[in-house]
Amino acid sequence: MSSTLNQPSELAAEQVAAAHPDSTPVRIAVVGLGYWGPNLVRNLHELPSADVVAVCDLEEDALGAMQRRYPAIATTTSIDDVLRDESIEAVAIATPVSSHFPLARAALEAGKHVFVEKPLAASSAEAEQLVELAESQKLVLMPGHTFLYSPPVDTIRRLIGDGELGEIFFISTSRVNLGLHQPDVSVAWDLGPHDFSILHYWLREAPHSVSAVSRGCILPDTPDVMFVNLEFPSQTIAHVELSWLAPSKLRRTTIVGSEKMVVYDDTSNEPVRVFDSGVVLPDPESFGEYRLTYRTGDIVSPHVGAAEPLSLEMQDFCSSIRSDQRPRSHAALGLDVVRIIEAVDRSLAQDGAKVRLSAA
Ligand SMILES: NC(=O)c1ccc[n+]([C@@H]2O[C@H](COP(=O)([O-])OP(=O)(O)OC[C@H]3O[C@@H](n4cnc5c(N)ncnc54)[C@H](O)[C@@H]3O)[C@@H](O)[C@H]2O)c1
Repeated sequence: MSSTLNQPSELAAEQVAAAHPDSTPVRIAVVGLGYWGPNLVRNLHELPSADVVAVCDLEEDALGAMQRRYPAIATTTSIDDVLRDESIEAVAIATPVSSHFPLARAALEAGKHVFVEKPLAASSAEAEQLVELAESQKLVLMPGHTFLYSPPVDTIRRLIGDGELGEIFFISTSRVNLGLHQPDVSVAWDLGPHDFSILHYWLREAPHSVSAVSRGCILPDTPDVMFVNLEFPSQTIAHVELSWLAPSKLRRTTIVGSEKMVVYDDTSNEPVRVFDSGVVLPDPESFGEYRLTYRTGDIVSPHVGAAEPLSLEMQDFCSSIRSDQRPRSHAALGLDVVRIIEAVDRSLAQDGAKVRLSAA
């Protein structure tokens, strides 16, 4: 077992502390090398603003695969080795949800900046503790809401923010595919953070109430299909369909505004299509007369950048450490997302009742 951290490119802690001009690459360790963690390593490895100096996983096999690919990166099976190393400034955590809190707390307590995959923690009580700890230690705490860095998602935020769509009446979204059933969480905790973070980012607000129905079709105690309704202070309503049980992969969102409508299909070559369509209700000329006018105008597919969201996300993590600026995917948003999922669970426990979210 490789329990002590082998440091091929060791830089003394004092040197790191002394050399902190904004351009110094952030010395990072990645914890968790299952399905997702290697993507973090790959993207960080390619960034000039980052220096992946160590990786950590409980499984020797995962470490071996990483070492073959990146021989200069130190490996360990123990997070303690990472936390003891004062030259490591930041930790990126991609482990199962139940371990996010203990690992992130230990890293913050050791004075490391923390990126932790979505969702931020397994409960709002845990997430609140992490937020408070990061604030008191003046450290960056960033949840991994990757879709906030997706160019189509960002394009739609601009369209909404510029008022081009008018008032946002409603948003309907489907995130379904076959698998992967997660061992420790429901589909709401696994896929829900994507849509809940996107809605929060687009609408710049958290919902005030949530209701949900679900079914555990394959494992009776693990909901693998869920229909979630959300209501926002701005009066926008949203419907989110989440499922690990579907014949084909669907990532499709419809946004209906008073001026224009948008279809966002993350699997398409034209991911954002803006429809100049709507319905006009002219002032009635006589009592009881309502003649609606339907408008179907141009369909425009705006240019959308091709950057890899995960690379932009890792850049934001590094630059927020160096610049002391809040990352786009910030801790308060991560906490709101956890509160939404908890509200979903409360609604399910009350047979789909509408549940008000606790104040942020
Ligand atoms: N942002 C995204 O789009 C996205 C996509 C997939 C997964 N994720 C998130 O990434 C995280 C990991 O998901 P996954 O599918 O890769 O899980 P996984 O089960 O495939 O991998 C988890 C890895 O963590 C390791 N691990 C567990 N406890 C550890 C500990 N205490 N110390 C060190 N290593 C430990 C395991 O050995 C395993 O290799 C989850 O939070 C998930 O929500 C995010």
